Amino acid sequence: MKELSGDSKIVLGYFYSGLVWGVIGLLIGLLISVQMWDAAFNFGEYFSFGRLRIVHTNVLAYGLGLFTIMGLFYYIVIRLTKRPLLFPKLAVITMWIYNIVVLAGMITLFMGLNQSLEYAEFEWPVDLGVVVVWVLFSVNILGTIITRKEKQMYVSLWYIIATIVAIALLYIVNNLSLIATLGKSYHLFAGLNSANVEWWYGHNIVGFLFTMPILAMFYYFLPKSTGLPIYSHRLSIISFWSLIFVYMWTGAHHLVYTPLPDWLQTLGIVFTMILIAPSWGSVVNGYMTVEPDWSRLRTHYLTKFFIAGITFYGLQTLQGPSQGIRAVSALVHYTDWVPGHVHMGTMGWVVLTITAAMYYVVSKIYKVDIFSVKLANTHFWLVLVGQVMFSITMWITGIRQGLMWKSLNADGTLLYTFMDGLVGNYPYWQLRTVSGAIFIVGMLVFLYNFIMTIVKGERALASNR
Ligand code: HEM
Ligand code: HEM
Repeated sequence: MKELSGDSKIVLGYFYSGLVWGVIGLLIGLLISVQMWDAAFNFGEYFSFGRLRIVHTNVLAYGLGLFTIMGLFYYIVIRLTKRPLLFPKLAVITMWIYNIVVLAGMITLFMGLNQSLEYAEFEWPVDLGVVVVWVLFSVNILGTIITRKEKQMYVSLWYIIATIVAIALLYIVNNLSLIATLGKSYHLFAGLNSANVEWWYGHNIVGFLFTMPILAMFYYFLPKSTGLPIYSHRLSIISFWSLIFVYMWTGAHHLVYTPLPDWLQTLGIVFTMILIAPSWGSVVNGYMTVEPDWSRLRTHYLTKFFIAGITFYGLQTLQGPSQGIRAVSALVHYTDWVPGHVHMGTMGWVVLTITAAMYYVVSKIYKVDIFSVKLANTHFWLVLVGQVMFSITMWITGIRQGLMWKSLNADGTLLYTFMDGLVGNYPYWQLRTVSGAIFIVGMLVFLYNFIMTIVKGERALASNR
């Protein structure tokens, strides 16, 4: 009797979890985008912008993001080590515990229990849950890698190991707190030290959640899905080690023009500039891999996803360093420019790469073609258009805001009131809602296509039984 292997069921379980959290997080994103131009859409304190914005970021990062990343890591590690998962039952238990932790996190954020540190908002009991989950996950992944049957360590494994070690380090250090009550704690670091540690964490958690794991996938799935070998293994390893060396030093670029000592800001900015090189090492490697046959962009739907994804990564890693420069930061910091940057990375690079990898995995697991390539193309274009519209709208209004805030009368007083700037944002914020809606429709098309592929696969299995 034919049925899916245990390992494949585990991978799917993580995908399902991620997708459920993804739908919740995206719909909340749409709601908060409306709340920004119509306050009537705030429904009591629990469903007000202040609470929901944090639910949006956390549920998408730790729910949609981390669950799908964990599922894809299991899939990649099993194949690159040429052995089954070391503790399959533990992977199932980890999945359930993690779902409970994310649910607890979401509920407590709705209740307003919040550490007031961006991307580290969960209060300490939820943090403990996250740490337990990460230890269980790490034991399984690292254990499988250590006991591997394949001696060669392909570059994706290095990215996976880096993700595991760095997230543990970042999460534990920045969440060290003095506990006051069950629902309230205070950052162990005070004042400026608190800000410095928080942004060391804040920058790197984005990197080790939205860059390293996605590069692990990119290096694995691009050659697998195109059948073209990666252009240069050596370049991939050099990019990896230089990225690891440079990344951790750049957090201070979030604190330009703050009381943080000037030399620390400058150090952060210098490393931020250097970061372009290792980032583009991977971009070039991706392009050169497809270089022998660019026609695949037309003929093979997944190539399009991966190449568009790495292009967004390339743009993101040029825009990011430019934002670190003092003159640019003075204009764009605190404005909508930054959400424009954020969503190009998340909705572009991360989402395109992860969804392409999930199409590939589900069709491999079931040994069937995906339900509809046409729908996959529709999904691609909706996500692309929604994303580009979102970011361009935010960049325009961001620059507009920055310039308005800095415009002075001849006597040195402000030319515009804060309200002038705010009201001017409304049309752009409305356009963001439209772009977000387009993106979400694209994601729903993906969801449908993904589920229908599973239905197709289950039918194929049943007919072989
Ligand atoms: C996978 C997709 C997405 C991810 C991972 C994501 C992640 C994030 C993150 C990290 C932030 C914080 C940005 C900052 O502090 O600068 C944010 C803010 C926000 N996101 Fe998303 N987002 C996604 C999709 C969406 C969509 C589809 C919408 C719908 C319009 C949306 C609307 C918003 C809004 C309105 C904010 C608040 C901006 C502000 O406070 O000025 N997001 N999102
Ligand atoms: C070379 C790579 C990158 C560099 C140097 C960089 C740099 C920066 C800088 C300087 C800011 C602060 C902007 C400001 O507030 O004035 C920022 C914000 C942000 N970036 Fe990037 N970025 C890079 C790549 C990425 C990627 C690939 C992603 C996601 C996929 C990303 C996500 C974010 C997020 C979420 C924030 C908002 C942080 C907040 O809440 O304030 N960045 N980035």
